[in-house]
Amino acid sequence: MPKFSGNPVFETCRLRLRTLQPGDEEFLALLDSDPEVMQYVHSGPLSRHAALEFAKTQIELTQYRQHLHKWIIEFRDHPIQAGWVELSKFEGVFDPEHSLGDDISLGYELAPSFWNKGIAAEAARPVLAYAFEALKLNRVVAFTRIDNVRSARVLEKLEFQQQARRHHKDDAGNECWLHVLWATHWRTILDDKQGASLIVDR
Ligand SMILES: CC(C)(COP(=O)(O)OP(=O)(O)OC[C@H]1O[C@@H](n2cnc3c(N)ncnc32)[C@H](O)[C@@H]1OP(=O)(O)O)[C@@H](O)C(=O)NCCC(=O)NCCS
Repeated sequence: MPKFSGNPVFETCRLRLRTLQPGDEEFLALLDSDPEVMQYVHSGPLSRHAALEFAKTQIELTQYRQHLHKWIIEFRDHPIQAGWVELSKFEGVFDPEHSLGDDISLGYELAPSFWNKGIAAEAARPVLAYAFEALKLNRVVAFTRIDNVRSARVLEKLEFQQQARRHHKDDAGNECWLHVLWATHWRTILDDKQGASLIVDR
């Protein structure tokens, strides 16, 4: 993986994505302890204490992350936090037939008041551009619980291909779909929407 210096910051028509910083603990913990947000994520909502500890660890680790980040999604015209999107090393899904160990996966969580406004898809686009153009990944994967239709729809809009089998299990034993977006396909679907996303490296 090539070295990519600095903290990548992205801007789209409506959004600004920045890496984690001290002060984000409360917001991250709010999402990870919200039963609605966590309905289809891992084992469900964390306790407030566990969510805060997890958030603190993630923020501390940010300084050591060179390529793969969690980005806070804010609005360009006001600094309200809507959620986060991340690229992370694959983990937590068991697949006996496919080698997924080297894969990078896309993930996201939004506060419920921001759902169904196209924010997740808009935020994911510059992150995918970064994954394919800066990190030169061949593909990005994503997993959704089979009943997480909202998330599956986001991935469909991004043109991930849902794999036919659904033998994947997350770390809580839930059945998941595997979704894959290949760099070759991504390059063929670059359109005005994706072109509007801007990568800023600082
Ligand atoms: C999944 C999540 C990030 C989606 O964010 P979002 O900003 O609402 O996503 P978008 O608005 O870009 O797209 C949502 C799509 O789902 C559709 N949708 C919403 N509710 C739906 C339902 N019950 N059934 C089918 N489709 C539904 C919307 O209509 C929209 O599709 P459209 O643009 O074609 O109309 C958000 O719901 C969330 O944070 N959920 C909790 C955390 C989570 O599940 N993360 C993913 C783990 S894999």
